[in-house]
Amino acid sequence: MIKRLACFLTLLAGSSLQIHAQLKPNLDLIPKPTQISPGVGTFHWTKSTAIVASAMFAPVARLLADSGQTIGIVSPYKKPTAPVTIRIMSVSANALPDSNSYKLQIQENGITIAARTTAAAINGVQTLLQLRLLQPDMSQIPCVEIQDHPRFKYRGVMLDVSRHFFPVSYIKRYLDLMALYKINTFHWHLVDGAGWRLQIKQFPELTSHAAWRYGEGWKEWAANGKRYAHAGDANAYGGFYTQDDARDIVAYAAQRGITVIPEIEMPGHSEEVLAVYPQLSCSGTPYQNSEFCLGNDSTYSFLEKVLTEVMDIFPSQYIHIGGDEANKKAWKACPKCQERIRTAHLKDEHELQSYAVRRMEQFLKAHHRKLLGWDEILEGGLAPEATVMSWRGESGGITAAKAGHDVVMTPGAYCYFDHYQADPATQPEAQGGYLPVEKVYSYNPDPFQPGALESKHILGVQANIWTELIPNTSHLEYMTYPRLPALAEVAWTNKDQKDFADFQRRLQSHYLLLQRLYVNYCRPSYTVTIVPTINYDKKETTISLLSEQYQPVIRYTMDGTVPSQHSTLYTGPFSFTGSSKITAAVFRDTLLQGTPAVLMADYHLAIGKPVIYKEPYSKSYPAKKEATLTDGYLGTVSYGDGQWQGFDSHDMDVVVDMESVQTLHTVALNFMQLTAVGIYIPADVTVSLSNDGVTFGQEMVVKNDIHESQHQLTFKTFQFDLGGKQSRYIRVKAKNAQHGFLFSDEIIVH
Ligand code: ACM
Repeated sequence: MIKRLACFLTLLAGSSLQIHAQLKPNLDLIPKPTQISPGVGTFHWTKSTAIVASAMFAPVARLLADSGQTIGIVSPYKKPTAPVTIRIMSVSANALPDSNSYKLQIQENGITIAARTTAAAINGVQTLLQLRLLQPDMSQIPCVEIQDHPRFKYRGVMLDVSRHFFPVSYIKRYLDLMALYKINTFHWHLVDGAGWRLQIKQFPELTSHAAWRYGEGWKEWAANGKRYAHAGDANAYGGFYTQDDARDIVAYAAQRGITVIPEIEMPGHSEEVLAVYPQLSCSGTPYQNSEFCLGNDSTYSFLEKVLTEVMDIFPSQYIHIGGDEANKKAWKACPKCQERIRTAHLKDEHELQSYAVRRMEQFLKAHHRKLLGWDEILEGGLAPEATVMSWRGESGGITAAKAGHDVVMTPGAYCYFDHYQADPATQPEAQGGYLPVEKVYSYNPDPFQPGALESKHILGVQANIWTELIPNTSHLEYMTYPRLPALAEVAWTNKDQKDFADFQRRLQSHYLLLQRLYVNYCRPSYTVTIVPTINYDKKETTISLLSEQYQPVIRYTMDGTVPSQHSTLYTGPFSFTGSSKITAAVFRDTLLQGTPAVLMADYHLAIGKPVIYKEPYSKSYPAKKEATLTDGYLGTVSYGDGQWQGFDSHDMDVVVDMESVQTLHTVALNFMQLTAVGIYIPADVTVSLSNDGVTFGQEMVVKNDIHESQHQLTFKTFQFDLGGKQSRYIRVKAKNAQHGFLFSDEIIVH
């Protein structure tokens, strides 16, 4: 009986890392479980602790036995000699109605994990492993009862291994860490213009040539003309996974409850393929095109042969076919593509792309697989059963879900872990954008009203890690942690149970866990964020001081001096009228940490005054529309923060109406530059004055002194001395010499 139902694993050795400072039991799990009831006492996890599992959960038991720092299996089928055990039990639907949930019960005399499915049992094991890693003494596991189930079934991370290559050994570690946070999908971006990374036996040039490039760094490669090298060339950078490597990863992930979804990018982002098989491009010449020729039948036969090998390696229901950012220009001029548009009765190049995606869907469907693609696959009509990954905001996902398609939400503003996670001045270079851990945490992947039918199409959420600027594994961890735990809670924990303050409290415990696993996480910044709130009636500013530090000691001054250990201690928001220069810093053991933050909190003369736009602001970056430039709020480091207003490809030209003739001393306004996303500081700014709002005179010009090639995030204030002139209208013109974006946040008048 026992032999049929259970197998036994005996464990060797517990752990030895002892933390003496604090021995309180710790229940700070991330993601937060659905129900958690602390008990009394601890389970003592020793060398002789045995694991007992129902037959169907034997591989899950092995996962538990194989994990941990020093645990090994003596004999997989040895009868336990110790009275205390960890049981992983399969239970009936009566005992556990929700097949996705697990129960974890930790008592002094034993641990039980109950579940109905392997995925749920693995989640239970991961909770236990995380609890163990959170304890000051990892042999003492606190008694507790947990009932838990996920909010979303798709909880993903996409890793780009084309821009930079990461070896199999590291991918396994990455999967281990993902599993610990109950991330269950690894979207493997295996191919892109920067290198093909998967062995395809029918097309050996993909890995002997297209997997290698001249220049390890992204910029270095670009500066070298984006040339591909050959394996073995002394100057080649790159690498690829053999099919055996990929199978090994698939199996390793599966044991941890993680599905690997391969992405084979098409029709764009395919420079590397077309360099080695140029006959598949519109020009037929290497280094000419990024997109496959979609009028050429050999393109489809190539892709089908590749996908056949891919499906043989990856058992996932989904195969991701990319579909993003295809430049349709070459198709317009290509006789074969135009012929295909005619013969297939297509309207244009958008429909040509859809035609190709539909063909791929039919092919995948014939092999009992489903197609997943980036939201561009909506353009030109969505393939009948496609699932959409919404990355350009949420609108693609909303449209697809309304049309009855499944969706994975991965909008740039919340899910792109290649963006900065702290003040860019303190960070290694990242892609534009600002995504601190709190913003990740704030995301709700279901944009529909509670109870809406469309919600069932929101499969879940995914973090995307593009690696142009992430050259090695240590940097990859830095960009991933602690943002991934935040995303894990977004994906797993019921919306009503989410609470950032509580997450931040629990995160403090996870620093111990991450340190124990030698994870190179991004340390919480010491920089204070000074947040003003303006009360227009009282003409008052209220200041809040925030920090990523947990319960920090913050001191501040209001006179422009650097705070010392004797400066005012921040105990909560404070208010004042008029202007004040706030300087604030975190202190630790009486010492100032990092660089003090400074904010000119300034109730200036133009606050609340109307602004007339002679040229419109950008529809994409309106901020607070007409109120933006005189609302008293300055922008942060993020152009998308709702304070920075954009002006797209033309000059900024606005008039502030002071509503009466006033004595004017200064006018000042800020601009930012972030060339990666096309934002430039204007070539010059001109201020002129008028009393009737029609005829402007007394022009003053300030020229820009920041070069347009300065790619690091840069700010510039243009300041004008008006010397007490009398005027009602102030016109501000900023010259958009680069025809990109101008971004300004406020016109400050004194
Ligand atoms: C993407 O970020 N191009 C999907």
